[in-house]
Amino acid sequence: MKVLSVQLEKRCRSPEEFPRSRLPEVAFSGRSNVGKSSLINALLNRKGMVKVSSSPGKTRTIDFFSINDALRFVDLPGYGYAEVPKAMQEGWKFLVESYLENRRNLAAVVWILDIRRDVSDRDWMLWEWLHARSIRCIPVCTKADKFSFAQRKKGEAAVRASLGEGMNPICFSSRTGLGKDSLWREIHRALASWKTEGELASQDDTGP
Ligand code: GTP
Ligand code: MG
Repeated sequence: MKVLSVQLEKRCRSPEEFPRSRLPEVAFSGRSNVGKSSLINALLNRKGMVKVSSSPGKTRTIDFFSINDALRFVDLPGYGYAEVPKAMQEGWKFLVESYLENRRNLAAVVWILDIRRDVSDRDWMLWEWLHARSIRCIPVCTKADKFSFAQRKKGEAAVRASLGEGMNPICFSSRTGLGKDSLWREIHRALASWKTEGELASQDDTGP
């Protein structure tokens, strides 16, 4: 997709603030500091569009970016950063779950892992939570530039083995642009099927 315009549409601290118009959305989720904001910047070819953290746990709001006035990217706060006070973590959990649970705009969640780390319990919890609700998931292993080609293949294979048949994570690097085209392809697929599902649902609404 040619990214012609990107705007930070809204930074939300509570579900009431989520934008109302019905554009399709792709959300980005993963543990704190995994590289969510950097990945969004890389996809959009905008270096400073989304704030990248110098310290983990930086993104504390749900941030909606409008792209070409045709879709939104949604930067979710990261999970699993132990230094964040418990009450605050609970607040984020509520915010993120409210978003994921009820959002009809949601076409897919990009589920982001660090290629150098094992898939954590929190990652699996999210994966299972999304699957239980039939929310489309796009697995991505980021920071691939930190690995040599051989290490990368090994890391990717380990994630693939734990995800099971047919789930191929996309190896990504915000630094080198590796995986950008593949991820955009998956995003386009998700948007196309979101549209089809929406059309079927509206036919159902008007049916006999
Ligand atoms: P929170 O919002 O705090 O949860 O962090 P985040 O997941 O949005 O991560 P962010 O994009 O802010 O990146 C965290 C750190 O990882 C920064 O220092 C980035 O420069 C670095 N980083 C992100 N992606 C990559 C990557 O692909 N390669 C390398 N080498 N570093 C990366
Ligand atoms: Mg962030």
